[in-house]
Amino acid sequence: LPRVLSGIQPTAGSFHLGNYLGALRQWVALQDTAEAFYCVVDLHAITMDWDPEELRRNTLVSAAQLVALGVDPQRSSLFVQSHVPEHVQLSWVLECLARFGEASRMTQFKDKSQREGTGGSSVGLFTYPVLQAADILVYQADEVPVGEDQRQHLELTRDLATRFNGRFGETFTVPAARIPQGAAKILDLQSPEKKMSKSLPPAGCVFLLDDPKVTAKKIRSAVTDTGREVVADPVGKPGITNLLAIHSALSGRSVPELEEHFAGRGYGDLKKELAEVVTDFVTPIRERTQELLDDRAELERLLAAGAARAREVAGQTVRTAYERVGFLPPV
Ligand code: TYM
Repeated sequence: LPRVLSGIQPTAGSFHLGNYLGALRQWVALQDTAEAFYCVVDLHAITMDWDPEELRRNTLVSAAQLVALGVDPQRSSLFVQSHVPEHVQLSWVLECLARFGEASRMTQFKDKSQREGTGGSSVGLFTYPVLQAADILVYQADEVPVGEDQRQHLELTRDLATRFNGRFGETFTVPAARIPQGAAKILDLQSPEKKMSKSLPPAGCVFLLDDPKVTAKKIRSAVTDTGREVVADPVGKPGITNLLAIHSALSGRSVPELEEHFAGRGYGDLKKELAEVVTDFVTPIRERTQELLDDRAELERLLAAGAARAREVAGQTVRTAYERVGFLPPV
């Protein structure tokens, strides 16, 4: 079986539609055909300002949401990144192979360091993509299901794997990004020139755990384009195109089919129907997440079992990699 690894930040507590359609939906689907490792990346969540109590809470909420969305802890290893210290152990070696210049070119670092400036940002924010590479390589993953915004980090991961293999002998599988068609980049509802993101104002971001009434309101208030025909046109009608993409991904109906369906009707009809499609989707997810959170001990047990399985694989990789680079094996 091919091996798959992916991770998601717990930062906002609730995931959003972009996370789900760009990445998590593939996580769930891949469980049928791959050996999957999925983690809540809490180490990545401290690269920028954070609150410890909130982080702990959001990590649990994230894990519960993943299960509610269909990640099956029996079939897949679901765990919290900080429970598997091998990620950090491998990360150091990769940091010593990564070049300052290539890390400086990462667009996510450039975006995220804008607030504090590069000088005021944490070193962890800078080395973030190298830890991400370690997350992936430590499992010898073949595929990494992610949204479009992670493509550059995956390229870095491939470069580091290839560099290590070239210098120390074949050690790592060089992983491929698995980016979905159609929903690889869900746009913000208020600023459809940007990707949907937890760091923009919440009115443009549909959180899965939002009250369904709030969700419906966000969709009804989505920024649309001039004109009134419901047709996909990424350049001329980015807002409408985005709403059609979300509808299509959740309803399973193709965009041309939806254009047909809305022929002769207006933007308001699209929004009204989409609000229903989205609330029908999120309502059971919300309930299931709450149920899982109500049994915290069981959730923690699940995560411990996932981490134990993950450590078996990750430990083997770290031992091999440490030996290859010349560390004296501990007796
Ligand atoms: P994160 O937590 O920002 O996002 C989780 C996943 O959601 C996808 N995504 C989107 N897809 C489509 N449209 C959007 N608007 C949108 N916003 C987010 C992301 O592409 C991602 O797949 N660095 C990663 C976390 C990470 C990771 C890893 C991923 C850490 N280690 C190892 C894969 C493998 C991140 O910040 O994702």
